[in-house]
Amino acid sequence: MMIRRPRRNRKSAVIRELVEETTLSVRDLIFPIFLIEGDNQAVAIDSMPGMYRYSPDRLLDEIGACAELGIRTFDVFPSLPESKKDRRATEGTNPEGLYLSTLRKIKEHYPDVCVMTDVAMDPYSSDGHDGLVQDGKILNDETLEILGNMAVAQAEAGADILGPSDMMDGRVGYMRQQLDAAGFTDVSIMSYTAKYASAFYNPFRDALDSAPKFGDKKTYQMNPANRREALLEAELDFEEGADMLMVKPALFYLDIIRDLSEAFPIPIAAYNVSGEYAMTKAAAAQGWLDGERIMLESLLSIKRAGAKIILTYFAKEYAQGVKEGRW
Ligand code: PBG
Repeated sequence: MMIRRPRRNRKSAVIRELVEETTLSVRDLIFPIFLIEGDNQAVAIDSMPGMYRYSPDRLLDEIGACAELGIRTFDVFPSLPESKKDRRATEGTNPEGLYLSTLRKIKEHYPDVCVMTDVAMDPYSSDGHDGLVQDGKILNDETLEILGNMAVAQAEAGADILGPSDMMDGRVGYMRQQLDAAGFTDVSIMSYTAKYASAFYNPFRDALDSAPKFGDKKTYQMNPANRREALLEAELDFEEGADMLMVKPALFYLDIIRDLSEAFPIPIAAYNVSGEYAMTKAAAAQGWLDGERIMLESLLSIKRAGAKIILTYFAKEYAQGVKEGRW
């Protein structure tokens, strides 16, 4: 005789939902969106079907449409022409430049929308790196000053959450200090804490034209082989004042998400990156996988691992389905 029959808890949809341990909501999601110069432009990104680079006017429309679907937080990434890039990523602090002027417009049009920004040199750097390059080397401490200035400029433009995605040592503490000194004690930092040197970022680099011009990012992004090192990175970011810790990529790093969520009492975010999105879309386009079900299972798994927040290119598609009552 079997006393324990786990299948009893799966016998109907109502019971299955009653005992469901993890739930997903549009509130958990942050939608990354891409910005380009120009007017009335929506340029498709080939390796990310369904994703576009928008000129400022169209970006505002897109944010409005997504806000209608209940998406409340957007992470904005700029794509700049080569002519605007230099060694020191100067354009990153230009208040009249594409990025900062658009951030101000977003806050003007949609004061309730939460705007997250990318604090990193690579969109503006002629070297395509996240740090200042000299003789083929990345200068850590000199980069901090550039990132600190960028952080304050973005805060001035109205950013709610800053996302340092560079992986330089000490940048969270440095940024926090600069922000506080400038009076921006309320501006949050979501640190890219465990950002791995991953092969899953290529579609994003296509979208931004931001691939490194030489070498790779292995001297600053983490080795995919390492798990305990993520705890060290998290401890530093926590001590330096990060408000939220992010793991990136998400699906291949669920163990890291779990480790950080158990060890730190602040919210954990995960970045479901461009390659994860591209992979799903490609298989779905072939008819080999059910793209919608893969999306739902991916997002749920990331939450189940311990992330409260998910940055995902699926945000709009997911929110659309919720609105239509499809899941
Ligand atoms: C770089 C940055 C990258 C992503 C976000 N910020 C790429 C990189 O490190 O080269 C990747 C996001 C994605 O792949 O979706 N500052």
